[in-house]
Amino acid sequence: MAWADWIRGGAEIVPSLYAADFRRLGEQIDLLLAAGCRVFHFDVGDGHFIPPVTMGPVVLRSIAPGIHAAGAVLDCHLMVDDPAHHFAEFAASGADSVSFHVEVAPDPAAVAAEARSHGLGVGVVFNPETSPTRAAGAAKAAAAEIVLCMSIHPGYSGQAFMPEALGRIEELAKLVDVPIQVDGGVGEENAAALRRAGASLFVAGNAVFGDPDPAEAYRRLRAAVA
Ligand code: DX5
Ligand code: ZN
Repeated sequence: MAWADWIRGGAEIVPSLYAADFRRLGEQIDLLLAAGCRVFHFDVGDGHFIPPVTMGPVVLRSIAPGIHAAGAVLDCHLMVDDPAHHFAEFAASGADSVSFHVEVAPDPAAVAAEARSHGLGVGVVFNPETSPTRAAGAAKAAAAEIVLCMSIHPGYSGQAFMPEALGRIEELAKLVDVPIQVDGGVGEENAAALRRAGASLFVAGNAVFGDPDPAEAYRRLRAAVA
């Protein structure tokens, strides 16, 4: 499936691989693919934009072939100071799309053009302290295919959901006409409210991989936003 296909669908649960058990990464991906998962969220941190170094192209290269063979895609969330610097390598390593932070992209159109020159789909992301108005402006300038609203301060999986994200998504939904993704602390307890607020793509790390049965947790989340 191409990037452009899944964003046109209805609501999607997007497991965040950052929260996976890396000893069993391939096995957990396969179970989620079998459960119907069609998009995986791949978190990249450089130790500057966010404190931790997370994972990068080496991991992407080992998982992308199996994910693509199953008809699914890899959407990369770049929590890095200089996103454009990484596009060529991410594209070559199997990324289908990249979302870059508006806080480090003074010229979103140029960053998006660079991503597209490598065949990557484009999303823009904004942090809790960044206004939806600024995010919408960047999304328009970039002609972004999605906008990602952070509902935590980016950095780590397993943090508590920030409830003010609901209002921020409602505000954003009035300003953009592309799918809205939400990332951070998403679970069965808030997914339906996020859907009503205007989100249609739900990144879930701990809610999927913190469960003894990630595939079953994925199915429950899907039911919560159906
Ligand atoms: C954190 C990442 C998130 C994280 C989400 O900075 O951007 O994608 O993995 O994990 P949960 O769903 O556990 O908050
Ligand atoms: Zn993320």
